[in-house]
Amino acid sequence: MRLLSLVILTCLSCVTAGYALDIRGPYLTGLESGEATIVVHTDEDVEAVIEYEDRKNKNLSQKKASPAGGRHIFNIEGLTPGTEYTYRILFKDNTGNFVDQSKQTNTFSTPPQNLDEFSFIAYGDSRDSSKKPKRHELIASQFLKYKPLFIISTGDILLGGKSATASAFNDDWTLNFFRPLRNVINSVPYLVSAGNHELDSPEAEQGFRQVFPTLKESFNYSFRYGRTSFIVLNTPNRMKEFQSQKQWFIKELEKAGNADWRVVFLHVSPFTNGKYLKNSWTLDGREDFLKTCVENKVDLVFSGHDHSYQRFHPLRFSDNDSHAVLFVVTGLAGTNAYKAEPGEFTAQAVNNTDHFCVVNVTHDRLSLKAYNNNNQLIDEAMLSKGEINLGKVWQSVTMESSRGQ
Ligand SMILES: [Fe+2]
Repeated sequence: MRLLSLVILTCLSCVTAGYALDIRGPYLTGLESGEATIVVHTDEDVEAVIEYEDRKNKNLSQKKASPAGGRHIFNIEGLTPGTEYTYRILFKDNTGNFVDQSKQTNTFSTPPQNLDEFSFIAYGDSRDSSKKPKRHELIASQFLKYKPLFIISTGDILLGGKSATASAFNDDWTLNFFRPLRNVINSVPYLVSAGNHELDSPEAEQGFRQVFPTLKESFNYSFRYGRTSFIVLNTPNRMKEFQSQKQWFIKELEKAGNADWRVVFLHVSPFTNGKYLKNSWTLDGREDFLKTCVENKVDLVFSGHDHSYQRFHPLRFSDNDSHAVLFVVTGLAGTNAYKAEPGEFTAQAVNNTDHFCVVNVTHDRLSLKAYNNNNQLIDEAMLSKGEINLGKVWQSVTMESSRGQ
């Protein structure tokens, strides 16, 4: 893959003094107060080092990547909390020198030790089958102005299917991930809840693991920022998959202890008034999921898969419950739209609109704002610790009949 034509075509490769590597990344897959994980791929097996420095104090450090063929993972430890760093990646060329082929200096900022307030972005279903996909890039171009601590996709980044290979260098990854996000993921960690299109074949799963090497075997994981606990579930195809994750999920929620907020991400939407309203893959298991979320004080659940924006009134499982859960479907940022018709439990539904959600988190307030690709507000909602919003008691019959189907 040293053809110059391909290098120009992808705009992601670099040429230095006749030596060209095809490169994907760099991108962050993890960031804490004292640690960062950065990944970059090369089409050839070359040595790589990262140079990084504290922007203020200019203490330059260098670290070699873990040797893993053409995939380079940098686990950087000992960072100073609340500090901006610059970094660049050098590759060994055929004269034995380490060269900055991309001529690109990147930055990231470690969160402060006492993280009182932060924002994150959630969005999903950004895969785009057009030959020159632009919609995801347009959405992604808005992200940095909100200074998100991390970005998470609710899944279906890729087309998958026949497009899937085990390589990070195939067109699907290039057009639907690396290119539209290239100016974002080099500075902000990008996380994902696996979608069905990421995992629809063994090759697709291999490719997914190649690009997200820090994900656990099961693709279920949790993390915490400040006093908020985040849990990511691997439900790419059907809500029934939750059954095998339930015990782990409950344990993670128990571990969240005194967290101010509990936020969950998954691909399949447990609640939707869109295409999958009556689909058994959605219906089977969702009541158990709601019950588990209510009992374990989950505050907010983001999902995708149904291609629209939908926010529901906070839901309880029964009249006796003293806690309600806010469900949001964020499932359109590049793929084909599905229509969601408002029903009894709908608080807001927006169709045919690429969008993303910005959530600002403080100790006592969780503020959600959804924007379209022109940065216009399409919905907003707030959860406040002082105000208990019990929303509505869930009744599946009502949800289905409200659509008259
Ligand atoms: Fe999906």
